[in-house]
Amino acid sequence: MAKFSMAASNLCVAIVALAAVAAAAVGEAAAVEHTFVVSEMKMTHLCNETLVTVVNGQLPGPAIEVTEGDSVAVHVVNKSPHNITIHWHGLKQRLNCWADGVPMVTQCPIRPGHNFTYRLNVTGQEGTLWWHAHVSCLRASLHGAFIIRPRHAYPFPKPDKEIPIVIGEWWSMNLAQLAKNMEDGYYDDSSSATTINGKLGDLYNCSGVVEDGLVLDVEPGKTYLLRLLNAALYSEYYVKIAGHEFTVVSADANYVRPFTTDVVAIGPGETLDALVVANAIPGRYYMVAVGGQAPKPDIQIPETRSRATVRYAIGAGNGDEAAPPVAPEMPDQHDFMVSFNFHGNLSSLNRPGSPPVPATADESLFVVLRMGSICRRGRLSCKRSGSKESIIVETMNNVSFQLPAVAAATPLLEELYYDHRRNGTVGGSGLDQLYTLPDRPARPFNYTDRALIPWGPNEAWLEPTEKAALARRFRHGAVVDIVFQNAAMMDTDNHPMHLHGHDMFVLAQGHDNYDTVRDVARYNLVDPPLKNTVLVPRLGWAAVRFLADNPGVWYMHCHYELHVSIGMAAVFIIEDGPTLESALPPPPVDFPKCDQQ
Ligand code: C2O
Ligand code: CU
Repeated sequence: MAKFSMAASNLCVAIVALAAVAAAAVGEAAAVEHTFVVSEMKMTHLCNETLVTVVNGQLPGPAIEVTEGDSVAVHVVNKSPHNITIHWHGLKQRLNCWADGVPMVTQCPIRPGHNFTYRLNVTGQEGTLWWHAHVSCLRASLHGAFIIRPRHAYPFPKPDKEIPIVIGEWWSMNLAQLAKNMEDGYYDDSSSATTINGKLGDLYNCSGVVEDGLVLDVEPGKTYLLRLLNAALYSEYYVKIAGHEFTVVSADANYVRPFTTDVVAIGPGETLDALVVANAIPGRYYMVAVGGQAPKPDIQIPETRSRATVRYAIGAGNGDEAAPPVAPEMPDQHDFMVSFNFHGNLSSLNRPGSPPVPATADESLFVVLRMGSICRRGRLSCKRSGSKESIIVETMNNVSFQLPAVAAATPLLEELYYDHRRNGTVGGSGLDQLYTLPDRPARPFNYTDRALIPWGPNEAWLEPTEKAALARRFRHGAVVDIVFQNAAMMDTDNHPMHLHGHDMFVLAQGHDNYDTVRDVARYNLVDPPLKNTVLVPRLGWAAVRFLADNPGVWYMHCHYELHVSIGMAAVFIIEDGPTLESALPPPPVDFPKCDQQ
């Protein structure tokens, strides 16, 4: 039964895709349609059969391919036993917050057995984005690429071929169980393998039989546009191809000034477009992705790594067929400078129509990202530093996010929308359960003091924290600066901070503690890169600026699944603008209801 409906929906996708191509040929915006059937299926890797939740029976899920300016309808049919929402990661969703797909922030989830159609507009963005379930760990198997091609031309020579590269993780354990463990404060799980386009590759085997790996067939002299995205729950990845270089042309669907590098670094939630010319001696070359992690004394997880093969066409003079592929020399997994330098090389390719960088900010926040702990069972005092009496959480300015009580029944966006229309003002009713994200931490300390890394007496005094519905309201049109300061409190992970519905200009990044006087002078106000996910370096900081001009309730969080699930999140409420054209329209008529059975 499930099989039949899947085939039927694929057919319908094919027909619609044809229609879309026809419209695009005459330069008009097209209406693209997809059907996403979410269901559970069994997959076997590493000698283990696992029940996974996927879209249309595929892992990674289907890619959505559109041309800038198109509109997209995605019919989600939930045949899984889980509540589902889909988030369109990086899509600006102008005046379309209803379709942002965050459970109980923007919408009631789609219940098992129910459907919902997401309607999206893709304007003013070109490049690679992606979609994923916004249901805790389930996104490890519910994700796919969202590719936006230019209506006119690329700002670089047209590549001969485009290849999506989805870096992910294979979890032999059940993902719903993983999510439960994280919430219970048990965070020792790690993925079973790294994957490239869903394939584990030949570094993994089941009783000696190697796992399938991705093979990229190339022809000498041709140019390939790799569309990379990191859908992993846990790690930033460093990616190299032996004998080849990447020319990075876009990040988070914003063009960048092209630069050439032999290694790219991509954090969870980030996307990258890079050109690769097949200009090596014909043969076979490994493409390797290795997961980065902070060195000791940070707690270590086993190294994660996967590889694919770049293979030159047969008959192109690739002499020794039997010779093993050439392997790249990979950076050390602990070498975080690979990431720091890579991200520091991004600058935006200013083009006519590119949004200007606002010269000054209306509000400035200093947000410290760090761990803390909370006593179990509501106790006020308890043993900390990893004791079972307390539970570890992640915080922003020493508050760990939890949904307010009102969100048990009504998504915050609906609450805000109707409240606003009742009272002519935001606030009151459920929204007074929100807790304002402070401008800066109440208690400053030396954030990058290495002595705070090991769990124990040095850091214990800083651990006590609280949970609240962390939120911040912004006037429509406000220019907001945020300095994210990464603190060396019990760990020194970097944090890929993702803001929904907006791109942020990354004005600067730096090591150690941010210093206003010294560091404001270093802000790049000429060509800062625009990102929806900013990688805040370990033992360092990143400064961003964004224009709060898209009304709605937007989730802002770390894209490491563990970190967001233990509270590194907040909601940004952006008020309506003064005109009808700058106010959030009403919700879709068929919007999911929370009490649906
Ligand atoms: Cu890709 Cu809220 O996330
Ligand atoms: Cu994080």
